[in-house]
Amino acid sequence: MMPLAETKSPAPFDAWRHRYAVACAVATGLLLLAGGLVTSTGSGLAVPDWPLSFGRVFPPMVGGVLFEHGHRLVAASVGVLTLVLAFWFARREARAWVRRLAYVAVGAILVQGLLGGLTVLLRLPPAVSVLHACLAQGFFCVVVILALATSKGFVARRPEALQDDGVPRLWALAAIATVLVHAQLILGAVMRHTGAGLAIPDFPLAFGRLVPPMASSEIAIHFAHRAGALVVAAAVLFPAVRILRRHPGRNELAAPARLLIFLVAVQILLGGATVLTRLAVVPATAHVVVGALLQAACLVVTVRAARARGGFLPAAPPGITCREGLAPAAPVRTAGSAA
Ligand code: HEM
Repeated sequence: MMPLAETKSPAPFDAWRHRYAVACAVATGLLLLAGGLVTSTGSGLAVPDWPLSFGRVFPPMVGGVLFEHGHRLVAASVGVLTLVLAFWFARREARAWVRRLAYVAVGAILVQGLLGGLTVLLRLPPAVSVLHACLAQGFFCVVVILALATSKGFVARRPEALQDDGVPRLWALAAIATVLVHAQLILGAVMRHTGAGLAIPDFPLAFGRLVPPMASSEIAIHFAHRAGALVVAAAVLFPAVRILRRHPGRNELAAPARLLIFLVAVQILLGGATVLTRLAVVPATAHVVVGALLQAACLVVTVRAARARGGFLPAAPPGITCREGLAPAAPVRTAGSAA
């Protein structure tokens, strides 16, 4: 079958391809969980070789090998899922940007595999481990956008125009939040892979003070991550609250806005729990996964708000009050006017 030609008309909704993209996103979330567990349990060097594990495809799954080799198996499965996804999109996807994004996913998972291998062979150098952690977050975002771009709401309907006269625009606010969350994920990865997770041992204060003495680079990185959490919280709450106050009826924005508020609160609590439990496996790993969900949710709001910006204005039926999404020229029923 030939690849579909680029077309300006809306792409037909393909339920199975969308379900498959969602399954890939869920599998990638599980991969993030498996990768987080490797670091949280200190199993990064439990298997000393790569690409084989102790020279075998299936070594005995004992001790840290369970986490390290388990992570490799989940990663290999996501790699295969991604190849199938790109092949499917190459054949069936009419929009060039979506096809290209599927190819980017393949490139990213290949580089990610190589970085994972290098991390092991070079004995966990922080720079490679941090890159591996950040690319994992980026790959997750790519797959989430593929799932979003193939959803019914995205392909089958154009959204109603968003009456967004705020400055900055809603999509820009959400984009700023996405970038700041990503910067915070990078800081978190640097902290985790340079062993600075307990450089400040107390929480919510730092050495009993608001601002700790910057006696080492580890303390500075750790404190930057805590200060970053406040910036991120403000950046995420700003668009979320604006959506809930001004566009409560736009469920495609209001639902992720509520999720953003929930995720940012949980993430800060998990950060605190990570310190107070001395990097216990459960809170430290959950902190990695919720960070990924937070970034992906910010990106979803950005894409949906940007899309609604150029949406359509359906004509309002006569006699109906003009409201968001209806053409400004629609008649407005005022108090005392004839019914
Ligand atoms: C909403 C803001 C936050 C986000 C998005 C975030 C994100 C992250 C991520 C993704 C990591 C792991 C990076 C990786 O290994 O790939 C991390 C590590 C860490 N974060 Fe946060 N974080 C936030 C707030 C906080 C807060 C308030 C604290 C409280 C102290 C905190 C404490 C930590 C600690 C201690 C680690 C290292 C854990 C370890 O060494 O195992 N985080 N952060």
